[in-house]
Formats: sequence, C-alpha cells, structure tokens
Amino acid sequence: MKVGGIDYRTIWLSEEDNSVIRIIDQRFLPHQFVIEDLHSVAEVVQAIKEMHVRGAGLIGAAAGYGMYLAAMEAGKTDSFDKHLQHCAALLKSARPTAVNPEQAIKRQLKAIMSASTVSEKIAIAKESAISIADEDADHCRKIGLNGVSIIEQIAKKKSGATVNILTHCNAGWLAFVDYGSATAPIYEAAQRGIDVQVWVDETRPRNQGAGLTAWELINQGIPHTVITDNAGGHLMQHGLVDMVITGADRVTRSGDAANKIGTYLKALAAHDNQIPFYVALPSSTFDWNITDGVKEIRIEERSADEVKYIEGWDGNKISKVLITPSHSPAANYGFDVTPARLITGLITERGICNSNEDEILKLFPERREPSCRD
Ligand code: MRU
Repeated sequence: MKVGGIDYRTIWLSEEDNSVIRIIDQRFLPHQFVIEDLHSVAEVVQAIKEMHVRGAGLIGAAAGYGMYLAAMEAGKTDSFDKHLQHCAALLKSARPTAVNPEQAIKRQLKAIMSASTVSEKIAIAKESAISIADEDADHCRKIGLNGVSIIEQIAKKKSGATVNILTHCNAGWLAFVDYGSATAPIYEAAQRGIDVQVWVDETRPRNQGAGLTAWELINQGIPHTVITDNAGGHLMQHGLVDMVITGADRVTRSGDAANKIGTYLKALAAHDNQIPFYVALPSSTFDWNITDGVKEIRIEERSADEVKYIEGWDGNKISKVLITPSHSPAANYGFDVTPARLITGLITERGICNSNEDEILKLFPERREPSCRD
C-alpha cells in the first residue's frame, strides 16, 4: 500500500544487506513514520513482543523471517538443530493468541530440515520466509476481491447510497504484509467507485483503530470516523451500520474466531440488530487442530500499564499519561472469542463461507482428514 505516494510493505529483506530484516515500526504511527532494521532473532522476538510489528499476518511473516535469521545464527554454532529449535520456541512464545507465527515456524522447520548442508538450509529458509510474506500479501489481495461482492450487494440494495462499515482494531495492511484482511474488501470497493464510510473503533487499550486503521484510511483517501469502543451498539440501533468486518487472530475449524478484545461485544450487538458480521482471514489464521474457541484458544494477557496509561502526541513528541489512580490494579486481556453462531460469514482467499465446519471444509477440503491437521 502507499505511504506518501510510495509503495510499502510492512516487512521486507534489506536490499543492501540480506541478513537484515526491515520493518515499519508501528509504535510511532500515526505520528511518525519510522523504519527499523532487525539484525538478530532476539531483535525479532523483541519487535513482536513489544509490538513494533503486530497483527496476525505480520507477526507470522516476522516469525518466518526470524527463522531465516535463526538458520544463519545456527550455522555459526556447533549444534545447528538445537539452536534452531531454541529460536523457534522463542519466536512462538512471543505472542500466544495468533496462530500465524506457529504456522510460519512449522513451515520453516520443515523446509530447513529438508536441506542437507548449512548453506542449503540458510538458502531455503530465506526463500521460504519470502514465500510466507508473498503468500500473505497475495491471500489478502484475494480476500479483497472475494469480499467486495458483499459490499457491492449492500450498495445495490441501498441504490448507491453510502455503505457504512464498522471495523474493530486494525486488520488493515499494517496487520499483514500488504492489503489487510478486513480492509481489503473496503479498499477494493472504494477503488470500484462504491461510496463507503468506515466506523473505526478506537480499540482500547492500545488504540490500533484510532492510530493505525484511521492512518491507513487517510492514506487511501477513504471516508471514515473514529468512534469510542462503546459507540457501535448505538449506531447499529439507529441504522447507521450496514455491516461489520473484523479480522481474526485464530479461527477454529468450526468457525469460532479470536480477535482483539471487544470484538465479541460488537458481534452480539450486530446479531441483536440483524446486521451482517463478517470475519476476514487468510487460511494461515485457521487453527485446524481445535474446535472450541472459548475453551481452547489461549488469550494473551498483557501489561496492566497499557490500560492504566494512554499514549499520544503532545505537540512535540509521543507522551504517555496515567489515567487511573496510580495504585489501582488493572487487567489487560488482549483478545476475546466470537462464537461461530454470531458470525454471518468468513471471507478467505478461496471465497466466502458460512462459519461452520462443513462449510469451511468445502473451501479447504484438504483439511477434512484428521491427518491433515497440523
Ligand atoms: O494485538 P494486535 O494489534 O497484534 O492484535 C491483532 C489485531 O490487530 C486484531 O485482533 C486484528 O483484528 C486481527 S490481526 C489481523
């Protein structure tokens, strides 16, 4: 996607030095555009944990590139496999809810183990990291092409009047390598001349909606309005929301979807108001091994300080202020699970389906047999 007229991805290999991974450091957005160089697995792990990079698809791609650096580092030790496994464990545990890093690490381990010499292992890890990133971008592009049909139908029903879409958190291109999941159909609709307006949930505590989604939409020239997290239900009751599209961090084979905390409440409000609620995801976000999202998905708990303090631009720099009594305890659950029954449909790179096991497996028949689980 474009930033100031220049095409960017969120992560790439430095052209000057192929042992360096470059990222857009999202901690500074929307106020400053900063590119960071990552030189080691430790730096990639830190970037994922501290959310220089974030969003399921992007941390998956970062884990893929991290495994490439791990292979290079392992080549300098006397126990290649031990070092590689150690790095895989570090990358996997950096953030637990999204499944994409796990999928990328498994794919990398398989690729690396298939080669025999150290230089072949490094070469294959590099190739595979690039493929994981390219595939993420390609799948998101296809999600846009598939999902736009839903927006087109709503626009037709409204005789061309503005289609109002509510989204939560940032499942835009910043959460992936390019395009985004929830935003891809919106970008495609705008490109086709459909009149869209996006309600952007601010998404406390880290405000990825207010900071990142709003910044993306500004760059794409798409009309939008930032709202408080609790405004959605009111807007729905007053006919001001035509559909909801969110992303996901892990979706079970039966269609339960973990996404940023607060998504479940939006789904409940949408259900109560008969508003279609779609979840957009590339297939790398399915966890084929589990069925019950509420019981089986581990929800990340982050620092209480993210709730107690708020960050923003003070006119000169990014500042952090305390908004609670300093001694009040706070709890910071990162994600919640929306049960499949509240989801109208899943938008994937292979098409749109109802959120249940039978329909999902019609799109992904290779996952039908238990042996094809991960
Ligand atoms: O904590 P984050 O910012 O990494 O959370 C991920 C998200 O932004 C959302 O849950 C998003 O909707 C899914 S990621 C494509």
